[in-house]
Amino acid sequence: MKLPNINEARERTDKEVQYIYLNQEYNKDTFKNKKYFLRTYGCQMNVHDGEEIAARLESLGLTSTDELTNADVVVLNTCAIRENAHDKLYGFLGRCKHEKEKNNPNLIICICGCMAQEEGVVKELMQKHPYVDLVFGTHNIHELQDLLISRQNKQEIEVYSCEGNVYENISYKRDSSIKAWVNIQYGCDKFCTYCIVPYTRGKQRSRKSNEIIKEVKELVAQGYQEVTLLGQNVNAYGKDLENELNFAGLLEAVSKTGIPRLRFVTSHPWDFTDEMINTIAKYDNIMPYIHLPLQSGSTDILKKMGRRYTKEEYLTLYNKIKNTIPNCSITTDIIVGFPNETDDDFQETLDVVNKCQFDSAFTFIYSPREGTPAAKIKDKISLDTKEKRLHELNELINSYSLAANQKYLNKVVPVLIEGVSEKGQDKVFGYTDAMKLVNITNAKEDIGKIINVKITAAKSFSLDGEKEV
Ligand code: 5AD
Ligand code: SF4
Repeated sequence: MKLPNINEARERTDKEVQYIYLNQEYNKDTFKNKKYFLRTYGCQMNVHDGEEIAARLESLGLTSTDELTNADVVVLNTCAIRENAHDKLYGFLGRCKHEKEKNNPNLIICICGCMAQEEGVVKELMQKHPYVDLVFGTHNIHELQDLLISRQNKQEIEVYSCEGNVYENISYKRDSSIKAWVNIQYGCDKFCTYCIVPYTRGKQRSRKSNEIIKEVKELVAQGYQEVTLLGQNVNAYGKDLENELNFAGLLEAVSKTGIPRLRFVTSHPWDFTDEMINTIAKYDNIMPYIHLPLQSGSTDILKKMGRRYTKEEYLTLYNKIKNTIPNCSITTDIIVGFPNETDDDFQETLDVVNKCQFDSAFTFIYSPREGTPAAKIKDKISLDTKEKRLHELNELINSYSLAANQKYLNKVVPVLIEGVSEKGQDKVFGYTDAMKLVNITNAKEDIGKIINVKITAAKSFSLDGEKEV
């Protein structure tokens, strides 16, 4: 048994990151004819971890099911970024408990992901949820098979609060055969004062560029049309290694693999260089779309958040990107109600939104996370005020999203068709180069292809279009 520890999770030392080449083989008869139910919450990093978890479960012979009632193993891959993620997990855990008590006493319930790295969560699981069989963290996903094989009939907790290593030769059961995630970096060292990620995912550590390029080349050979490079802070890629490419160099090298579309998330404004902007502008297969979290428009709040840029610096960077990369769409993340955010601070955020006119934004009410510096600040702002601010912000954001989408009316744009649309069986959906969601008629035979689409209608969150013939 190994429990998470916040003080160990916070620690950053000079200890060298280990690059570990896994060479794991498992017997596919171990869980023959058994089924797993995997549910993933949270960000793209978690979604991609889910693809690794699925491959690991299948290496033991398990096959996937969408029905909890058919499952022999349940894996809940959790998110810790805000409190509501906790509520969702405990809600679903109730259903798992019921299933185990009433229908299937042999059901193996596993919890992993970012919440498993939290001291308080694991204590609660031990005290109040003894029916949970296995808890493992973000640092030992590679141990999943061994943990399942060796587990006894008692609750097993195996969570490491370490700075972290880099594992190679990982297999993934990818959700799509058209677009793929590729990790370029793990962890985060920014320690923004509200954020739990540096504690749940360890220190910033880059993969070696030759491994990244090898993985992308394999995806190109398999016919993938799009790759998204993943990291908490991709712009800082390579800074933790000697003799390694920087992010601009990596983008250039990956672009030259010939992958039709290349994307990346997430960028921190602090590490965004002119070289990067010029590289994105130079290569046609690097998509003109950047997610650039603002968090707040108030320089005072940004300082308290530990974001390392001012309102003016953000605006300067924003304009530089817009002026250098033609038709670049920019989206953002904004937190309202950081402790003691004043009306004036909030007006500064609205001012930045008015100046930038983002293509879209994810907006959140600040949620205190145990162990982070901001959680210790005594907050005088009521939830009611925060909710009103969120509402006002969303109205403004949505009006700009609609305006940005309306600019596409009657234009012809390239769209990568991904599959059948939620809007009806006769429609397909895909994304433009600038990451606009489009629902398209008359293109069912084009799934997996990039086609030209004429935009016929614009809404706040999507476009409608027709295949250009
Ligand atoms: N409360 C609210 N939102 C948060 N985010 C990160 N931590 C918190 C928190 N404690 C938001 C940030 C980040 C996005 C992924 O989640 O905006 O960019
Ligand atoms: Fe969290 Fe800041 Fe790191 Fe993003 S850059 S993961 S907000 S600490």
